[in-house]
Amino acid sequence: SESVNPYKEILIESHEKVGLLTLNRPKALNALSSSLFHEINDALERYDNDPDIGAIVITGNERAFAAGADIKEMQDKTFAEVYKANFLGHWGRIIDIRKPIIAAVNGFALGGGCELAMSCDIIYAGEKATFGQPEIKLGILPGAGGTQRLTRAIGKSKAMEIILSGKNFTAEEAEKWGLVSKVLPVDKVLEEAIKLGQQIANLSQPAVQAVKESINNGIIRIIAEGRMSFREKVIPEHFCVGKTDCFTRFDFEYHHISSVR
Ligand code: CAA
Repeated sequence: SESVNPYKEILIESHEKVGLLTLNRPKALNALSSSLFHEINDALERYDNDPDIGAIVITGNERAFAAGADIKEMQDKTFAEVYKANFLGHWGRIIDIRKPIIAAVNGFALGGGCELAMSCDIIYAGEKATFGQPEIKLGILPGAGGTQRLTRAIGKSKAMEIILSGKNFTAEEAEKWGLVSKVLPVDKVLEEAIKLGQQIANLSQPAVQAVKESINNGIIRIIAEGRMSFREKVIPEHFCVGKTDCFTRFDFEYHHISSVR
């Protein structure tokens, strides 16, 4: 394992060909601030370029994988600020990582946290994990591909129900619906995810990467096509950004949108 951790909000550690990335902002339930996401991207790219690494695992802690985008960071931003800084634009960089990424999820995976897990290639969940897209309760929409990825994973009716109501769902439901591939005891999730990563890392890397690329190509196309239609004319990036969409559409500020019924 690495002796020096160059990051402030994540930990990195390699386990025989598997690069482990642990979100480490526990007081904020690993809320995905821009600075945290930049560190995630940097570490993912580092592992992607490391010839000794064949698979990557992303995890949080027992209480939270991640409770979403950082609401405190985004709540006061105006559309002009969001647009100028391409706020949340860097969330899309994970799709350029060529090595398989496994999410080992315990605790809350809500909003952007659920979207981050779904942006990984495989999800293992602990028995007490809680998934959900609560954005609608904030008056915004799942902004990092959630409308597209959840629908692909669990089907339209369930995805509509979950996203329109903002209701959370359990690890057991997530497995039954096909969103996660395995539910495990809380203290086994990470261990099993690393084991799976090691199995994958010991296979032919060109074959592994080609499989990942093939499976994801179709999904990425659907995500791009699923952007709200007004968006393409206004903001030419890959992923829907919750607030950006809302601002673009309604020209309201965040706190106004959530109070419009
Ligand atoms: N952003 C910023 N801070 C957050 C956060 C978030 N998404 N989620 C939790 N926190 C912070 C809380 O503010 C609190 O910090 P303080 O102690 O400084 O006040 C700390 O984490 C602990 O949280 P709680 O006290 O709320 O813990 P709890 O156990 O009572 O509740 C929870 C847990 C149900 C997950 C609750 O924290 C919650 O509802 N969080 C917000 C979930 C959410 O709405 N996520 C979607 C965000 S929008 C999004 O993600 C947009 C997108 O698509 C990209």
